[in-house]
Amino acid sequence: MSSLDLTEAQIAVHWKEEGYFQPPKKFVEQANLKDPDVLKRFALDKFPKCFDEYAEMLTWYKKWDKTLDSSNPPFWKWFVGGKINASFNCLDRHLPKSKDKTAYIFVPELENEPDIVLTYQELHKRVNEFAALLRDFCGLKKGDRVTVHMPLVPELPITMLACARLGVIHSVVFGGFSGAACGQRIADSGSRVLISMDSYYRSGGLIDHKEKVDLAVETAKADGQKVDKVLVWRRNPGKYNSKTPMVEGRDFFVDDVLKKYANKTVEPEQMDATDPLFIMYTSGTTAKPKGIQHGTGGYLSYVTGTAKWILDIHPNDIYWCMADIGWITGHSYIVYGPLALGTTSVLYEGVPTFPDGGRPWRIAQRLKVNIFHTAPTAIRMLRKVGPEEPLKYKHQFKLMVTVGEPIEPEVWRWYYDVVGKKEAVIVDTWWQTENGGFLCSTKPALDPMKPGSAGPGVPGIYPVIYDEEGKEVPPGTKAGNICIRNPWPGIMQTIWKDPDRFVKTYYAKYNKKPKSKDWRDWPYFAGDGAVQASDGYFRILGRVDDVINVAGHRLGTKELESACLMVSEIAEAAVVPVADESRGRVPDVYVALKPGIQASEKIEKAVVKQLETLIGKIARPRSVRIVPDMPKTRSGKIMRRVLAAISNKMPVGDVTTLANPEVVEQIRVMVQGAGPVETTTAVAEDIKRFGQD
Ligand code: WTA
Repeated sequence: MSSLDLTEAQIAVHWKEEGYFQPPKKFVEQANLKDPDVLKRFALDKFPKCFDEYAEMLTWYKKWDKTLDSSNPPFWKWFVGGKINASFNCLDRHLPKSKDKTAYIFVPELENEPDIVLTYQELHKRVNEFAALLRDFCGLKKGDRVTVHMPLVPELPITMLACARLGVIHSVVFGGFSGAACGQRIADSGSRVLISMDSYYRSGGLIDHKEKVDLAVETAKADGQKVDKVLVWRRNPGKYNSKTPMVEGRDFFVDDVLKKYANKTVEPEQMDATDPLFIMYTSGTTAKPKGIQHGTGGYLSYVTGTAKWILDIHPNDIYWCMADIGWITGHSYIVYGPLALGTTSVLYEGVPTFPDGGRPWRIAQRLKVNIFHTAPTAIRMLRKVGPEEPLKYKHQFKLMVTVGEPIEPEVWRWYYDVVGKKEAVIVDTWWQTENGGFLCSTKPALDPMKPGSAGPGVPGIYPVIYDEEGKEVPPGTKAGNICIRNPWPGIMQTIWKDPDRFVKTYYAKYNKKPKSKDWRDWPYFAGDGAVQASDGYFRILGRVDDVINVAGHRLGTKELESACLMVSEIAEAAVVPVADESRGRVPDVYVALKPGIQASEKIEKAVVKQLETLIGKIARPRSVRIVPDMPKTRSGKIMRRVLAAISNKMPVGDVTTLANPEVVEQIRVMVQGAGPVETTTAVAEDIKRFGQD
């Protein structure tokens, strides 16, 4: 982190210490993890063998010889020597006993469209047919990469599992990303096949998704990667809902091609536990997203174990995670974890508030959902549009999950009182794309809940807070950088094609002995600020790097800035996080124009358009401010922290050492209006606690 920037963690609001909520007895009695002995079984002196317990939940072709090979830090190798297939574990192994059990209930956004129910048997059949198509029609084989740019429909997990069956590495790009963003990821992963879809429903309208394909393919080509086949699923097979024409010889409708592969089966590839399963791109501190590479055996063990213990999934539960499969939460806790456990899950296509704030509770009541998983941004939105709605429905949750950003205690209480009707346990799960699965959370039957706090490390995870100098920050004192002392099976393997960046981003900061072969010398740096209370619970404050978590989606400020610079009138751009009531944080954009160019609304609009085109609608800023000049140090560096302070109504601090201090007041008046400087004491207090100012 540069001291010129003001990070998310620093603009976090300081909350007062909260009281505890106990899990209800009824929940505790039925819980998967109710033996407090787990703490002993997963104590540090049992590491890494303790994680065998997770791997044993899976079916292996060949058992591993070694739990953890840590001889080449920080490139950890889990369950070495083991042979396994993820698609087999999610499908085939359930068939003997529960082939007729429902795997997915797909709920289309339009309420008058019927659900689509897929049993394990049917899912198995569809995955096999599509795997045959990928192998025989596309010529894909183990180790190849495929980019998947799709909305939330059953065909997305079908695609992922078909890849996993063949050992093909899938790289799923969130459907809301633009064609250009998809193309950049196609090029980086070296995919020659793109899998897309014609359309999907969003807020009642049919959205054209296929229109993104041409730009994706062009962008990839400009970056040196040729796409030779585009497979297009159709939202309604036989009917094409896109205004863009299919390109002869390149684009193929999946439902047409699939006819040839009806009833075909494909033997699952026996993968090494350490073979990659997928790549997922996430924003970092440069303009280039990082391809987070996850392995097969370690990842699958970790998501299965944590889905069983933290989500408390039992064979007869009906589980609904509202996340999009295009993000890590969907990969781990809609696809791989729940399917490996043989769960019945709900998939919902649309927005939670369509057509009204009662929609999720109607779905939950009708389908008897008893485990509900979502993010603070959705909870805030549902509370805003329908604070009383949950009370109108008879849904009954035993467990509810929140993930993706800090949840305000007030929002937590609404979730608990009104959505959960004071009967459901809440787990606030803190983790990241890089981590594969949960890092901090209460153990639902064993630990009391505390609003706004994620809780302690989950079994086998040992978090610690370090200050900037690498000194341990004791509980109950001040904030610092949260790190994990030990490796775990869900941790990423590397950054795709960039091992140096992997070491630099996540391990270099607190590694004092770069030659050490001892894992104890390699704490994982998460890039989040946190405080640990004296009870050992962690409260996450937000990112400490140039990343903004917008409604639970990570966007890199550098990525946003370089998109702004594509507008020809713009000379300089600075993007900062600003606190937002419903989305948590949103980007605020400041731009300075090239000499001689007049400010205009047209330029502001062009910036917004550029962000939407190059990244996606999720990158839409709160505002675009054309400023006379950027506040700069004498060496010419843009002082983003000053802009962030102005956007967040915080004191700008001492600016006398700037090259152009007068511009700060001009910008402040532009954003905050004339009048006295506005400040929020609680925020200022938190910055002091964070020890950065
Ligand atoms: C944030 C999502 C507070 C955090 C699974 C992290 C959270 C980033 C929580 C990762 C939580 C995630 N409380 N903050 N319970 N969960 N975060 O990679 O800043 O999309 O670094 O993974 O989200 O986002 P990602």
